[in-house]
Amino acid sequence: MGWVDAIRDHGSLLFIHLRDTRGVVQVVFNPALSAGNYDKASSLKEEYVIQVFGKVALRDKGTENANLKTGLIEVFALDLEIFSPSRVLPFKISEKAIVFGEDIQANPERVDEELRLQYRYLDLRRPSSQEFLLKRYEIMKCIRRYLDELHFIEVETPFLTKSTPEGARDYLVPSRIHKGKFYCLPQSPQLFKQLLMMGGMDRYFQVARCFRDEDLRPNRQPEFTQLDLEASFIDEEFIYEVVEELTTRMFTTGGIALPRPFPRMPYEEAMERYGSDRPDLRFDLTFEDVTEDLRSTGYSVFKQIIKGGGVVKGYCIKGMASTLSKNVLQNDYAMRIAPSFGAGGMTWMKVLNGGLESNIVQFFTAREQEALKNRFRAEDGDVFILIADLSKDLVNKALCGLRLHMAQRLALIPEDRYCPVWITEFPLFELKEEGISSQHHPFTMPDRTDFDPADHKALLSLKSRAYDLVINGEELGGGSIRIHRMDLQKKVFLALRLKEEEQESKFGFFLKALEYGAPPHGGLAIGLDRVVAMILKASSIREIIAFPKNRSAYCPLTQAPSFVSDSQLKELGLVMPYTEDASGMAAESRGRSIDRAEEISLDRVRHIAKLARLTLAEEEVFSYREDLNAILQYMETLKTVDTESVKPMSHVLPLTNAWREDKAGKCDTSASILDNAPVREGNYFRVPKIIES
Ligand code: AMO
Repeated sequence: MGWVDAIRDHGSLLFIHLRDTRGVVQVVFNPALSAGNYDKASSLKEEYVIQVFGKVALRDKGTENANLKTGLIEVFALDLEIFSPSRVLPFKISEKAIVFGEDIQANPERVDEELRLQYRYLDLRRPSSQEFLLKRYEIMKCIRRYLDELHFIEVETPFLTKSTPEGARDYLVPSRIHKGKFYCLPQSPQLFKQLLMMGGMDRYFQVARCFRDEDLRPNRQPEFTQLDLEASFIDEEFIYEVVEELTTRMFTTGGIALPRPFPRMPYEEAMERYGSDRPDLRFDLTFEDVTEDLRSTGYSVFKQIIKGGGVVKGYCIKGMASTLSKNVLQNDYAMRIAPSFGAGGMTWMKVLNGGLESNIVQFFTAREQEALKNRFRAEDGDVFILIADLSKDLVNKALCGLRLHMAQRLALIPEDRYCPVWITEFPLFELKEEGISSQHHPFTMPDRTDFDPADHKALLSLKSRAYDLVINGEELGGGSIRIHRMDLQKKVFLALRLKEEEQESKFGFFLKALEYGAPPHGGLAIGLDRVVAMILKASSIREIIAFPKNRSAYCPLTQAPSFVSDSQLKELGLVMPYTEDASGMAAESRGRSIDRAEEISLDRVRHIAKLARLTLAEEEVFSYREDLNAILQYMETLKTVDTESVKPMSHVLPLTNAWREDKAGKCDTSASILDNAPVREGNYFRVPKIIES
């Protein structure tokens, strides 16, 4: 039983490939065996669901198919039942590549993802999609097996709950019974897993669904799955040991051997040497600070920056001097690419014949040139890149963008290498526009407890006992040792400017629990979708989620989110104010838009950019979206201006016809209209070419 994958009619014989989750088998309909079945089979089309009874036989010599697991046999059909017909498919499902032995990954069918998601149930019939889900299940089994060995127990925590702050917006669920009140879907089970520790469950895990309303990226989904774990009476070493073994076992299911032990790198070092707290260690290009080497340089750009307290940093690219031409370095990297990562400029130098070559090398003394070469341990054939700015953060960020860009473009990233690293010693707090906020979350244990919650400067120097698991530049997991004392938790809340009343209303239940004997505890959560996608080399996490949302947090299959009926809104006490003449959807959306304009999706931004013939980098798509949303938001506020009795004002002066006095009424022939054209050809004039062909 299964689906008709492909049909071949050889005139006297009809062959079909019958497919189910476990594979494909060839079925032969021979009119000599059963004319009735042969006729019935002639009506079969792709994706019909059928049942065949038949005789399994070895294929004739020379007709075997080595690419098919069942390629030595075929089934001679004796009976056929058609369970369900299928409409013509919106896209091809059959992965004939499998039958013909081609590499499916290297030869994907180019079907629009939106269409695939709209018909996800068809998309899931592809053997490669099913393989993803099967392997995901294998990985889940491996996790459960290992954690069970260590006596962790799986506990489910609620979805309808209070806010669990993880830095994103909450998804809210209105309550019918408690009108005007809302549940929050959990951004993570953080508070509940800590409460479980206080409840004496000393080793917990959960394959937990989390919900975060945040800007989407290729490795983010609004709802995603975490492998969440927590344990009592432990320290960081316990977490490192458990998670390293667990991760290694997970990767082994995909045939990948991770190097152990995972190295550890303090946050500060990661930022200094890679400009990122999730460094990709598969390739080198680590940053060196050359500020001291150039402190007394005569090169005015660097001189000004160093004098102003700025820094000059860079990295060396081994053996690329002949690949990277001066033209590419200057016109492509220095003028275009480095500025797109925020750098004011970029300097490059090639090491050739023992000396340095660059468009500005003459401004550096022989001693400075030597110092640069030494700092980068550069040899003949190497190139180094320098960026200078008053802000060290900007230099690190720009170099980080450039480092990844160059590594990709120069094919310096070994595809089959996996480099795990623990990032440790994060700052406890960071300074955001809104003020001080937690780098991880407010329940993370600081490295010191004797701080003054009102002293901002001191707060920013505190470190946390948090750790992130990073592999190949992707943050796969994160966690921390937690605060287990009420007084310290309150102090951290105070540092975050959470007043007593707010602490009570948001976290009163949790603070109370900390007063009844909370054990020291800690844990971590792994982004399961990200790990599975990495192990299975999927192009995005959407590939390994059965029913994902698209890039605009929309489900093309079910069309969620969608409007709900008036009666549902009313029941929830959420009826919007309507104008008298309003009706249906338009009225609804007008009512809704008073508070907030419909947010523009990332796909819309890409589409608008396409129409405007702009090429946007992925980061730009986000910042353009913010700008466009701000404009739309502003436009929304204009809607509330009462213009009821105001006449249209499209013209400041009243409209009148104006005629040239000298030739009144005579300017009507094409020739006279063209009098002012700079160049004429017959009755035409040239306009600048504004649309590219
Ligand atoms: P954190 O917020 O770092 O920590 O999340 C843990 C891991 O979850 C994954 N992740 C995501 N995956 C897909 N889509 C998303 N939108 C998304 N957001 C996060 C990442 C990340 O490393 N409660 C803490 C954990 C703890 O302290 O124990 C937490 O949720 O891989």
